[in-house]
Amino acid sequence: MNPIPMAQPDLSQAELDAVSQVLKTSYLSIGPRIVEFERAFADYIGVKHAVGVSSGTAGLHLCVIAAGITENDLVITSPFSFVASANCFLYERALPVFVDIDPDTLNVDPQQVEQAVHDIKHDNAQAKHWLPPSCRDRVMLDLPTQLKVILPVHAFGQPADMVKLSAIAKEHDLVIIEDACEAIGAEYQGRKAGQWGESAVFGFYPNKQITTGEGGMIVTNNETWYHLFRSLRNQGRDVFNAWLNHTRLGYNYRLDEMSAALGLVQLNRLESFLAKREQVATWYNERLKEISAVTIPYIVPEVNRMSWFVYVIRLATEIDRNKVMDMLKEKGIPSRPYFTPIHLQTFYQDHFGYRPGDFPVTESVAKSVLALPFYANLSEAQVDYVCTTLNTVLNP
Ligand SMILES: Cc1ncc(COP(=O)(O)O)c(C=O)c1O
Repeated sequence: MNPIPMAQPDLSQAELDAVSQVLKTSYLSIGPRIVEFERAFADYIGVKHAVGVSSGTAGLHLCVIAAGITENDLVITSPFSFVASANCFLYERALPVFVDIDPDTLNVDPQQVEQAVHDIKHDNAQAKHWLPPSCRDRVMLDLPTQLKVILPVHAFGQPADMVKLSAIAKEHDLVIIEDACEAIGAEYQGRKAGQWGESAVFGFYPNKQITTGEGGMIVTNNETWYHLFRSLRNQGRDVFNAWLNHTRLGYNYRLDEMSAALGLVQLNRLESFLAKREQVATWYNERLKEISAVTIPYIVPEVNRMSWFVYVIRLATEIDRNKVMDMLKEKGIPSRPYFTPIHLQTFYQDHFGYRPGDFPVTESVAKSVLALPFYANLSEAQVDYVCTTLNTVLNP
């Protein structure tokens, strides 16, 4: 069996044609393709507006700005995510309020979110324990007013418990920004990821369900935010886009025309990609569910549609994961220990004083997770090979 890639985009002649057509025009940026892609994307998600940006991270950053987050404000999010889910508000010098995850869904635990919001809004004796260790004694903090945003992550394509999180946000007047970078097409209780928050962000890096190379998309029903996003991504130009009239501090977070053309074709093929990914996940589930040292992904019944981004199993605690990864690698099978908790990343430990033990569920999950090769065109024979090899490695 040839080496199996960890992930692989599906690019057909249609994508090649779409990109080369753009290259034959003089519109390589700010042209008709981005407009078309945004319209099609907003329609797909079922929201009024979509704004293309240069990455998911850029999109999250602009949402944080739109929510009015500034220095020392507090944002609730999950420590079990890609680092961009928290970096996006550090850019505005806000502080993370990490809340531990549910051990089954791997998404933020809504009960603990409720507790965190309650403690912080009442500024009670427990409130400071939700802050990063090195920030607990800052004198400038006025916790109840500084808590503004909940930023749930739909980890690995499974939506967080948006019903409970929305209720908490409504009760306490908090804004929800969905990090839907991994969850295009996912549905929770019949509603698509991207329809729940004031805004949501999708990512199109090449390992994602659809790709534009680099790229991302913000979606929103909020007219004011929509105009703000368009201005902010384009150097803060005013809403009339007068070329040299910069009304606010902006960024170059534009998505170019080649990427938009690519994204449009990929979006048209999304349903077939999601169906294929579902099939690959089913093949994995069928083969791995009987291996006692392996726990297969758990999808809650409220998720009527999972958008499979990666396929992540958990290994029993006594298993040496590094050894398993090495042995798989020798057989041409890549795997990843996906995610490392955000609070234990070097920057977060150095800057905020987090230490191992701070978020026990996240940490124990992170020690046992293993992402296996996963993409739409992975064949049943390849899945078979990965699963048979893994079984041999675990049960020599
Ligand atoms: C959960 C999550 N948030 C944010 C991002 C950032 O997206 P990008 O890499 O496009 O900046 C990613 C991308 O990998 C992600 O998985």
